[in-house]
Amino acid sequence: MTLSSHIDSDELEGKILEAESPANKLVNKYISAKKQFHNTRAEEKPASKIVSKFRGIAEKYRIQENGMEPRQVYEILHDELTLDGTTTLNLASFVNTHIEREAEQLIIENLTKNLADNDEYPILLEMQQRCISILGNMWNAPADLKNGALGTACTGSSEAIMLGGLAMKKNWQAKRKAAGKDYHHPNILMASCCQVALEKFARYFDVEERIIPVSNTDFLLDYELIRRNLDENTIGVFVILGSTYTGGFESVEKVNDILQEYEDETGHFIPIHVDAASAGFLASFVYPDLAWDFRIPRVVSINTSGHKFGLATAGLGWVVFRTKDWLPEELKFQLQYLGGLEESFTINFSRPGYQVIHQYFNFLHLGQKGYFEIFDNCLTNARILSRFLEETGIFVCVSNLHLPKGHTARGAPQEAPSPVSHHAYLSDHNYYNPALPVVSFQLSKEFMDAYPEIPQSLVSALLRNRKWIVPNYGLPKTSKEDENENNEILRIVAKYNLTSQLLDKLMHDIVEVMEVLMKSVALVRKNVEKLKTGSKEADNDMMYNMLLSIANDGNEKLIKLKNTPPESKHNSFRGPC
Ligand SMILES: Cc1ncc(COP(=O)(O)O)c(C=O)c1O
Repeated sequence: MTLSSHIDSDELEGKILEAESPANKLVNKYISAKKQFHNTRAEEKPASKIVSKFRGIAEKYRIQENGMEPRQVYEILHDELTLDGTTTLNLASFVNTHIEREAEQLIIENLTKNLADNDEYPILLEMQQRCISILGNMWNAPADLKNGALGTACTGSSEAIMLGGLAMKKNWQAKRKAAGKDYHHPNILMASCCQVALEKFARYFDVEERIIPVSNTDFLLDYELIRRNLDENTIGVFVILGSTYTGGFESVEKVNDILQEYEDETGHFIPIHVDAASAGFLASFVYPDLAWDFRIPRVVSINTSGHKFGLATAGLGWVVFRTKDWLPEELKFQLQYLGGLEESFTINFSRPGYQVIHQYFNFLHLGQKGYFEIFDNCLTNARILSRFLEETGIFVCVSNLHLPKGHTARGAPQEAPSPVSHHAYLSDHNYYNPALPVVSFQLSKEFMDAYPEIPQSLVSALLRNRKWIVPNYGLPKTSKEDENENNEILRIVAKYNLTSQLLDKLMHDIVEVMEVLMKSVALVRKNVEKLKTGSKEADNDMMYNMLLSIANDGNEKLIKLKNTPPESKHNSFRGPC
């Protein structure tokens, strides 16, 4: 048999089954077992038997001729899905993974309702309206009975951003048409730390994307670069409240001032859409004095993800427009509803409605105080983690939520800083930079100098072995690129269900993983002398020993190093029973 570097598992499996099929031994055995099953109640059979008997029979990529008992399908799919990551330990995602039992019950009761069926489910529609009013109030939308705020639930912030962007484009076009000017070359500004949804809007709807590099101190929009990128074709600026890279907030106020100056000089009005996908809830409850919402005159629309820090279930975004007038007629469709007319302006028509119920449940259940307490806890935990990581000396933080206002992890303070006090409480949120509970960190320079062999991505891979999901990825393009800087980050989102116990375990695991890596390097270094002989064998030994030490958590007792004297190769341990 030749050794190939690629093995197609499906093909191989098929070959083995096919080899049996002329006599149909194996397949017949499965089929007769299946027939037998159809005559018995699946629940009567132990789960493991059901799954093992039908292994190889359930079609993966084609619909099979005969169906299976629901219980049997449940067992198979349930078992397969256990291979997914554990939601509680998914520290990579902003999407909420916590749900109250009562909310779950409501969801199950209403799982099959379509949010688009206004006529059939008017109460669901009413709950959506209540949520929009709550959000409008939360975001200080101007009170105006005739021309007040309006909005809609979406499948996520991405759809909400498309709607916010489209309104800016259509309004700009209408103005240009009315003035008899060219309206075919719109552009939009956004920072290089933007989430892909913002770029998608530009590409999908033929708007030139002007990506402004972020500053290399706080990894947020470099405000100095805005002015030179504006012109009469600029339909708007996307400002990000809660960067996915660092959790930092861009200053809506600063952008507003720059755009005001531009308008004073040129007469061109340029609006702002705030992408508050992750921070729309948190900022309102934790930083009530921070003006980022409709208090800023140029903010025409805001999106947030109900399924992130709104603490609802995946599949819910919100967009709220400052006034009815801002939403162009071309984006509205009239639907007949209970004898009246309802306006629809979402991209998706049919979509589940249970997330809206979950959102409304949270508003009633948590109230302002409940939301504040959860966010207070998340932010405090994130600061504990940041301080802990920096105290190890192995890591430095790139996120700034644990630093006093105006201080950044990289570079000089941007504003006159308040004096650094190590006595400030970690929950004294107004003392620190406003941000999401996101900890972005990387290997320190001292560590990388001492261990240049260790790739940072290995930290992520080894944490994954311990079930933690902590991604490692590149920082966005900055206005002053420095090739010598480490531009990769590990990122942890401290969500609701990262409890103190889990945080404690996480911190221990991070340290243990780093110790494994350091021990592994030390072990391999022991072999380096042999490398000097330049033989291929020595190279192989080094690779082998390195990988072996990682596989054994750097535990010397468990490792049988290659090329060590035979007597020391005998470890006395038993395999697991
Ligand atoms: C800043 C930002 N904008 C937009 C999105 C897209 O949101 P959604 O996943 O709800 O479509 C995300 C998602 O992480 C985000 O962090």
